Amino acid sequence: MRIDVVSIFPEYLAPLELSLIGKARQDGLLDLSVHDLRSFTTDRHRTVDDTPYGGGAGMVMKAEPWAQALASVAAAQPADAGKPVLIVPSPAGERFNQALAYELAEEDHLVFACGRYEGIDERVIEWAEEYFTVRPVSLGDYVLNGGEVAVLAMVEAIGRLLPGVVGNPESLVEESHSDGLLEYPVYTKPSVWREREVPAVLLSGNHGKIAQWRRHEQYRRTAERRPDLLEAFDAGSLPRADRTALADLGYDVVDGHLKRRPDAGSQPAS
Ligand code: ADE
Repeated sequence: MRIDVVSIFPEYLAPLELSLIGKARQDGLLDLSVHDLRSFTTDRHRTVDDTPYGGGAGMVMKAEPWAQALASVAAAQPADAGKPVLIVPSPAGERFNQALAYELAEEDHLVFACGRYEGIDERVIEWAEEYFTVRPVSLGDYVLNGGEVAVLAMVEAIGRLLPGVVGNPESLVEESHSDGLLEYPVYTKPSVWREREVPAVLLSGNHGKIAQWRRHEQYRRTAERRPDLLEAFDAGSLPRADRTALADLGYDVVDGHLKRRPDAGSQPAS
């Protein structure tokens, strides 16, 4: 996969040289370049922003430096390849999640446009549709100072899904959100620590029981922390033991989906 990131703070993206993503770059699994937006300006002051039409606080990023930068990275796309995907991090975008990470990990070429200030002149986004599939994407319902931190998060989430990046691909299967549920709790040695014991089932050697316990812990945690995920979960073909565990948590299967029983307690049973 190829990734281009355009930012006025290229140094912000330095962590992408570290750890798993840094290694993926060294190993040639990920071809990632960071570009300084200011190098696409033509004036003496290398201006990237100006006051907003219509008034209001803050500054808006000027269209022309962005058009120059994006045209430059789009030109690197081979003519026979499809359009690259232009991701514009913004609190006004669609929500980033694991499903979107999987979807974007299938692409050949991603371009990230890091806005700062109040955002980028909207005409750039319209203009870019000709050369890119444009996707404004939000990390969550809060406001960052710019897109760089969002790009760090998204590139890490996408990059670790690329073939060969995570040493043991099994570890991608049993993690939070991979199956629409939160991950079960994990423990390591010693088996007793400060008088706290590891759940006995995990020491039993009974793999069937362990798998069932972990599944039920996933339901318990998800019911407690993210009931919205449980309601969206595809419960069409759950084994009976799972239905029983969910019923104990106050959830019944209705038309293939989990519905919280109105008479269930205000807190799911633990
Ligand atoms: N830029 C500013 N806030 C953001 C957010 N929540 N997600 C993505 N990019 C952003």
